[in-house]
Amino acid sequence: MHGERFSKVGFVLAAAGSAVGLGNIWKFPYMTGENGGGAFVFIYLLTIVFIGLSVFLAESVMGRLSRGDAVSAFETLPQKNGQYWKYGGFMVFTGVIILSFYTIVIGWIFKYIYVAATTLPSSVEEAGAAFGGMITTDTVGQMLFFTLAFVITFYIVSQGIKRGIERINLVLMPLLVGILVLLLFYAMTLDGFGDSLRFLFIPDFSKVTSTSILSAVGHAFFTLSLGMGTIMTYSASLPKDSNLVTSSLSVAALDTIIALIAGMVIFTLIFSFGAEPAQGAGLVFISLPPLFHDLGVLGNIIGFAFFVALAFAGITSAVSIVEPTAMYMINRFKISRVQALSILGVTTYVLGTLALISNVETLKGYATIFGKGVFDILDFSSSSILLPLGGLLVALFVGYALQKDRLVALLGDHMPKAAFDVWYFSIRYVAPLGIAAVMINQLFF
Ligand code: PHE
Ligand code: NA
Repeated sequence: MHGERFSKVGFVLAAAGSAVGLGNIWKFPYMTGENGGGAFVFIYLLTIVFIGLSVFLAESVMGRLSRGDAVSAFETLPQKNGQYWKYGGFMVFTGVIILSFYTIVIGWIFKYIYVAATTLPSSVEEAGAAFGGMITTDTVGQMLFFTLAFVITFYIVSQGIKRGIERINLVLMPLLVGILVLLLFYAMTLDGFGDSLRFLFIPDFSKVTSTSILSAVGHAFFTLSLGMGTIMTYSASLPKDSNLVTSSLSVAALDTIIALIAGMVIFTLIFSFGAEPAQGAGLVFISLPPLFHDLGVLGNIIGFAFFVALAFAGITSAVSIVEPTAMYMINRFKISRVQALSILGVTTYVLGTLALISNVETLKGYATIFGKGVFDILDFSSSSILLPLGGLLVALFVGYALQKDRLVALLGDHMPKAAFDVWYFSIRYVAPLGIAAVMINQLFF
């Protein structure tokens, strides 16, 4: 069980630090670009409000009641139709998959901290060529930065939840939000701002395919850190009288606002410079640097601060991706934190290296399975399959395996009865059916 406890503010900060990450600033804009804009955003927002928020609260409830890791929550909490729930514990392994590619992207960001401080590309074309060159040819450089990201992440987790995680969040989250808001004000003065709003908020449903629906739903889970036990594990360290309802609401709101601001800034620049929205994973690395370049030395400073803050947003999420698996291994196998992290570290480092070389032109042959690179396989299988599946199980578990009285006792004081009923209906019916429908539609039709 957990020795350390979060303070109340510490929990909200750490949960927000976990939620707000590369998902908001790197992934959300590029997925929106690839999936045609507004319709993707619309489905993503719908999922956050009607599914994500209720699953978030459900995961917090499981953690708070079990006070243990995700596997033991599924094993020890059921009061109805017992033993089969334990398979829900599979979700503690999803973190290994996500972390392997997540640290590579943090490595790219490290590289761009350096780029911003030195010489920025002057046009979108130049920026595109530079980013593409890094991904497809610079194995050594990428490995160096990936290793750095990896070491930092594991070092922080080795220090334990409170000292390591709580502290850095406190300083860096406000910095990141501040820079983004500044960039937003700047974007408002540019020609492309109107186009960016139209692109993001006017849905064109002719662009929707079953794949883009699944991506939007999967991304809603990814961005809220749901479906793999992160929120459950953090909630296990909450003080007794915490208000799970307000913390869920504030984390989801903050996460969504930051993603939308990032989207507005990035697409304003894309449209102002006449660039292509569907750039893929390089979008943020291609659209922003030329803007920073145009601002002269000031741009170097803002760019530097932006990528530093983004790196920290990434790291606070990365530590939260390691923690559920680590916590499970420590409790289950009675091993030390360092031992657990060593095993996890070796596994993710090997997987991450494979993912990295799967983007390199001359080496991709060694890391391609069924014609798909390891990087893409890890990304797709985690976001579009494992996280929604984990979320589905959490919803079913809280909706059917736990007694309703227990939920009322825990949450009743913190939400009006009507809100409780809506939430309960959502985790019993709306969330499971919604997730199942989307997955079945994509996988079998
Ligand atoms: N929510 C994080 C982001 O948006 C990623 C993450 C996924 C963190 C799953 C923890 C668990 O970047
Ligand atoms: Na997020």
